[in-house]
Order: sequence, then C-alpha cells, then structure tokens
Amino acid sequence: MANEGEPVTVIKNINNETEKGRMKVLCPNCRHLYNIDCAKLPLGRKVSFPCKACKGTIKLDLRSKPATDDLSVSPQTSKDNGAEKSLQSTPQSDGKQESQALKKGILQGLMGVLPPMPQVVMKAQEILSDPDSGLKELASVIATDPAISVRILKIANSAYYGLAGKVTSIGHASVLLGGKTLGEIVMMAGTSNLLGKTLKGYGVKSEDIWRHSLAVGIGSRLIANIKKPDLVNDAFMAGLIHDSGKIMLDDHVLKRRKAFEDLMMDRKKTLYEVEQQVLGLDHSEIGYEVCKCWGIPELLTSAVRYHHSPSMSQDNALAHILHMADFLAIQSDMGTGMDSTQCQVEDKTREFLDLQEGDYKKIKQKVVEYVEKITGQMDNS
Ligand SMILES: [Fe+2]
Ligand SMILES: [Fe+2]
Repeated sequence: MANEGEPVTVIKNINNETEKGRMKVLCPNCRHLYNIDCAKLPLGRKVSFPCKACKGTIKLDLRSKPATDDLSVSPQTSKDNGAEKSLQSTPQSDGKQESQALKKGILQGLMGVLPPMPQVVMKAQEILSDPDSGLKELASVIATDPAISVRILKIANSAYYGLAGKVTSIGHASVLLGGKTLGEIVMMAGTSNLLGKTLKGYGVKSEDIWRHSLAVGIGSRLIANIKKPDLVNDAFMAGLIHDSGKIMLDDHVLKRRKAFEDLMMDRKKTLYEVEQQVLGLDHSEIGYEVCKCWGIPELLTSAVRYHHSPSMSQDNALAHILHMADFLAIQSDMGTGMDSTQCQVEDKTREFLDLQEGDYKKIKQKVVEYVEKITGQMDNS
C-alpha cells in the first residue's frame, strides 16, 4: 500500500463524447495512464489499486464527485501529425503509449523540419576545444560562411567589446579580440537565427527566447570559469542550445495551450513538470534528440538532457552549471514566459557548485550587462 499523503495524479476525462463517464488516472510513479469507467468506481470512498506497469500502488480519493472540469489534457485537433492521430484514434491507450507515439512522431519529423546547425559553429567549437588549433584556422572556417561573417562583425562591433565600428573584417576581429572571444562570437552568430524563433505555444517572442539562450550561455560560462575552467567553451555553447527542444515541441504545446495554462496557473509546478504531465515528455528529452541530430558532442548533449534534472545526470558538471544558469537567467527577468512562474534549483546543484549568494549576484549583474550590450547591437543592425 502507498503511504497516506503520497501524491496521486488524476487526469479527468478528455472532452470527447466517446469518453463520457470515464476518468483518466495517471500512475505518479511510472506515468502509466488508466482510462477507467466511472460506473465501476466506488464513488464517495478512498480506493487504491496496484499499477500493473510498475507494481506500485495508486491511491484515489473519490469522496468528492469525479468532476470533468479539471482537465489536464486538452482536446486534440484534426491537424495533428501521424503520431497525434494515433492519440485520437486510440483513446484507451495508456499514457506511456501516448508519449511514446508523440515522441516517435516528433523524432520521425525531426530531420525534415529541424534547421541545420551551421557547420561553422561546429567547427568553431571543435577548434576552441583543441588548444593546438590556431586562430588562422578559425578565421578561414568563418570565411566559408558569408552570412555568418556579417553577423560576426555586427556582434564584434557591439558595445560589449568596446570596439564600436572599428572591426571591419574577420581577420581584423581575430587580431583585436583573440581566438576565444572570436569563437564565442561565432557561436552566437551561428545560433541566433536558429534559436531566435517565436514560440507561440510557449508564448515567447523570438527576441526573448534568444535573450534567454544568450543569458544561459553567458551565465554558464561565468559559473564554469569559477568551478570548471576546462568547461568554459562547452558551457557557453550548451547554454545557447539548452532549450532547443522547445522549438520542436512548440506546435504540440500550442495545441494544448489551455491545459498548460490551467496547470501553470496554480504555480505549484514547473513548466518542465507540466510538459511531462500534458505531453508525457519534456523539452529536455527532445532537446537531447535535437542535439544528437546536430552532431553536438555527447557531454553537451547529455547536459541539455538533464538541465532540469541534473541530479539524474550521473554527475554531469555541465548539467548542474546549465541548471543554475537557467535559474539565474529567469531570476534576472530573462526567462521565457511560462517557465518563469515556478523555477527551482535542485539542492544537489547548490551543493555541487558551492557558491555564495554574493557570487550569484555578481554573475547575474554580468549576465544582464552582457546580454543588453550584445542584443542591443543585434537588434539595431
Ligand atoms: Fe529548459
Ligand atoms: Fe531555459
């Protein structure tokens, strides 16, 4: 038997005629979803039954009417992809099957809709991780991508670097700024278009998602500089792409926007938890797949996967760094709408980083200053 007070998640029936009088019950342990005929439930009592999937105990409090107005899953639309059609056509399917079908559909469509990561970014990352690679090599790689070269010059001329209007070529930028800074600018220039997309489902404007990505990149770099200097470049890149899964999930969130808003309203759950409850998966899982498709190194890919649950990452230092930088960005008003309503830092991350409140305050100040100066130039150009 489960203990008294153990959390039980109950999802009431979907707005669907064929489902009238049924209740959806989600196992809080393994997320197996049951679709139960209310006529068979002993209303007015507390009941418990074993979960056939994980063998745990599910407890239900049926002393109040099993109302259908507390929706956790919104009606599906007819425009859904194949995976979502299967959700509609198999209303009896359990939650695990639903989330697997959704994930499969997203992954199948990934290669077709995912914008490619510019090669120059991957190359810059590679070069910066290899101390034997030189500045010349980086400049010659950049020269292969004229569009990115233009964006690099805009950033290099931003107020942050104190060189306003003085940088006229990539070669010039590499001399004035040095290889590491140039590499960082390449990463920003190469990902800004990719990540700066309006997310209607999440309710985030393109400039806000880009500011958030940048803030987490910079925050991660600053934290890494103190705790794990060897991870500085990886931290910056990982921060930029940490929420890339949202790009792929946005349409699915949009179709269930009402359910998201209702669940977020009570301010007890994080966005990440609501995604799991409504979709059966979250943006970090899809972000992991996105990063794999882009060919991002495993260390970063794994950190993206666990940026909301670093304690599950088997001590991935980068996951802890991203987790804290994400939190600091949100605290600095550089969140992404829905994720700002409830955000927490895992105790394990605080222990792992072992920084003082004063350190976090300084990091936040630097993040805000950097983001304002960089994005100011990008917006104006
Ligand atoms: Fe996230
Ligand atoms: Fe984030």
